[in-house]
Amino acid sequence: MTPFDSLSTDSAMHAPGQASGREAPEPVPRRQSIGRHQLFHGDCVPALARLAPETVDVVVTSPPYNIGLAYRTYGDRRAEEDYLDWMLGVATAIRRVMRPDASFFLNITGSSAMPWLPFELIVRLRPLFRLQNHITWVKSISIGDDTMGHFKPINSARFLHRNHEHIFHLTLDGAVPLKRLAVGVPFKDKSNIARRGHAQDLRCRGDSWFIPYETVRSRAQKFDHPGTFPVMLPRMCMRLHGKAHPVVLDPFMGTGTTLLAAAEEGGRGIGIDLDAGYVKVAKARLLAALRGGRTS
Ligand SMILES: C[S@@+](CC[C@H](N)C(=O)[O-])C[C@H]1O[C@@H](n2cnc3c(N)ncnc32)[C@H](O)[C@@H]1O
Repeated sequence: MTPFDSLSTDSAMHAPGQASGREAPEPVPRRQSIGRHQLFHGDCVPALARLAPETVDVVVTSPPYNIGLAYRTYGDRRAEEDYLDWMLGVATAIRRVMRPDASFFLNITGSSAMPWLPFELIVRLRPLFRLQNHITWVKSISIGDDTMGHFKPINSARFLHRNHEHIFHLTLDGAVPLKRLAVGVPFKDKSNIARRGHAQDLRCRGDSWFIPYETVRSRAQKFDHPGTFPVMLPRMCMRLHGKAHPVVLDPFMGTGTTLLAAAEEGGRGIGIDLDAGYVKVAKARLLAALRGGRTS
């Protein structure tokens, strides 16, 4: 079964409430196909309800963080309880479409004003998932006097600059085998290869991933979106999960970074976003990628 077997026709999907003409219709997500990939414009919860159950291999997503980012349409400032309840509903909808051996990589961070938020969220999701790994996405790091990467500086006497974000790796049973060496690194001490009987010069990278943003000089180069991640982040998640030609879902796709990564990794992407402008950007980036152009 493919994720779309339960769908009827492109951009003409009717919400259940519309059939009787009595109940209020729920918003109807609109779908378009770009090659093997599917882009939805609409709210992710009703869009996810239209996918067939247990059909997705890898979910990589960065939901709104509830820290007041200036998105085009979404208001990123809910009451904390309301936000957590909403995210629990989204995660329940995601769980339904995950294959039993799927991986869900949830990227999130807090802010100085809301430092507990990522932890409150992950505890809320405990009845739904096992926390198989907790990866730290390092955006910038200083080693000795040398600094690499970029971050948004904080002007404060109390708080440190926030140089990292969380990537929670959630699975249904906590026992999904991973391809650790697909994101592995060469041994520093080469004598370890023979001494410890390794087949190749690669070891597990561990759970701190340094993935810098590319240097940009304007908002337009970030596609006028306030919260994108680098394309290498979803690529590494897919490689770690390790399935060839995976079905990859991003219910909060923004500018479509996860879909680009899916295309580059030989997967089949499904992306959803509430905002028509971001869906347009995602479509343009994906088309450029499929034509062999620049993707990141
Ligand atoms: C942090 S951004 C994701 C950015 C993305 N990772 C990228 O690289 O471009 C979160 C996105 O969620 C979208 N969004 C907010 N509420 C949504 C909903 N109910 N359904 C689908 N998308 C939603 C926002 O429009 C925003 O683009």
